Formats: sequence, C-alpha cells, structure tokens
Amino acid sequence: MKKLRKPLVVANWKMNILPSKACQLAEEIKNRTNNTGIDIVIAPPYTHLALMSHLSSADFSLGAQNVHSEVSGAFTGSISVDMLKDLQVQYVILGHSERRESNINENIFLEKKIDNCLRGKLNIIYCCGESLEVRQRNEEKEFVISQLEDSFSKLKVWSPQQIVIAYEPIWAIGTGLTASAEQADVIHLCIRNWIADQFGDQSAHQTRILYGGSVKSSNAHELASKENIDGFLVGGASLNVEEFSVIAHAFNHII
Ligand code: 13P
Repeated sequence: MKKLRKPLVVANWKMNILPSKACQLAEEIKNRTNNTGIDIVIAPPYTHLALMSHLSSADFSLGAQNVHSEVSGAFTGSISVDMLKDLQVQYVILGHSERRESNINENIFLEKKIDNCLRGKLNIIYCCGESLEVRQRNEEKEFVISQLEDSFSKLKVWSPQQIVIAYEPIWAIGTGLTASAEQADVIHLCIRNWIADQFGDQSAHQTRILYGGSVKSSNAHELASKENIDGFLVGGASLNVEEFSVIAHAFNHII
C-alpha cells in the first residue's frame, strides 16, 4: 500500500553522545538514509546544534528537544525559538513524556510554546501518550485526546506542514515493549479523527502522525505498513547507525 503522506523518521538522541562525536554519527546516518524519499530529523542535545547546522539539507533536518515558552528575556538556562531558527533548526519536540514527568509545569506551558513555534515558523513534533495504568484501565483514547485538547484548544488554524504528532505510549519508551502495529494504528486513527473534527478533513489527511516507543529494526516494517503510521520518533535505536538506517528504510517499499 502506498503511503499517503511523506514519511518522517526522527532521531531523538535525548541526553546522549558527546558534541565531539555528534557530526560523525549524524553524517553516517545521513549517508545511509540518503535517497530514501523520506524526511529525516536528528534531534541532538542543544549543545550539539551549532556544530551540526551545516548538515541540514532538503530531506535532512535538525531538531531540538525542547524550547522556552517566551520569546526572549531573563530566563536563565533557556533557549528561544529564534535561537534555534538561527542555527537552521527546523523542528522541535514538545511535550515529551520524559519532560512532562520531570517538570510538573510542562503541560501548562505547552499551549504557549506551540503558539510561539508556529509564529516563529519552527515545526513542532508534539508528543502524547498514556501510562501503563491508563492503558490497563482501557482509557488510552480518552487520555490522548485530553492531552491534545489541553494543548491545542486555542489554536485557530491547524497547519499540517508545521504540526507533527508523535504517539508515544509511556509504557513502551525504553522498555523494549512496543505497542503492536494494530494498537498504534488504532490510536493514530483516533488522533486523526480528532484533528478532522476540530480542524477539518484536509488538515487531518495531511498531518503526519509518528509512532515512538522501542522502535527497532525488528518491528519497524510491521509498524510502517499501517495506514495511519507516517513515521517514527526513535530513541535508543537512533544512536546506532545500522539500526536507524534499517528503521528509516522500512518505509521504502511502501512509498
Ligand atoms: P525509545 O525508542 O528508546 O523507546 O525512545 C522513544 C522515545 O522516547 C523517542 O522520543
């Protein structure tokens, strides 16, 4: 089956890799994923971005793992949208569960961060996903939709070119447990239907919805074959060139 949207595979390096090793790893990934016909984003720690900005090209972009909700000012230790844009960064991951867990205020600021990024033409990769307890209560759909409602309720215009959604069930992140392709596709469809209800069919049809949570070379093909899975947000496996390139190539035979 042909993919309806251009696949996007994102490497979230989290707090790994020294700056002095980052370009080599990114270059190897870039060489191995060239001409796949998909978009690749590498999201390293902030400290690496300036060193890597020369690598960005049409299908290969840089991403950041967070951004501050204010435009500029006295916010010690924070990074703004404009600073990222100045380094050719094109995407930012927002609302990752690891940030939501370590910072109880993260949810409150997401709406403002989204607004800021969209105004500043920085594309967002918005993360959502339920904990194991929520899944065991069979409330995962309601939970994910409530996250979207909290963060996007004031948004007037949905821009599918600027907004990517990443469904990352917390119980699958770094655990080796993966949502089955069917489980992921059900939630992706539910997210797409929510976008259609709020912002129209065209927005829903064009929005890329990524899956994240223990994506590996061994499960990437099955996940990639699902209609509503348009790419991956990869943690651990993105630090290994061989693994990551197999994951990226999983979309090859279906685009
Ligand atoms: P893993 O691929 O290591 O499970 O991490 C997923 C993730 O959190 C990507 O943002």
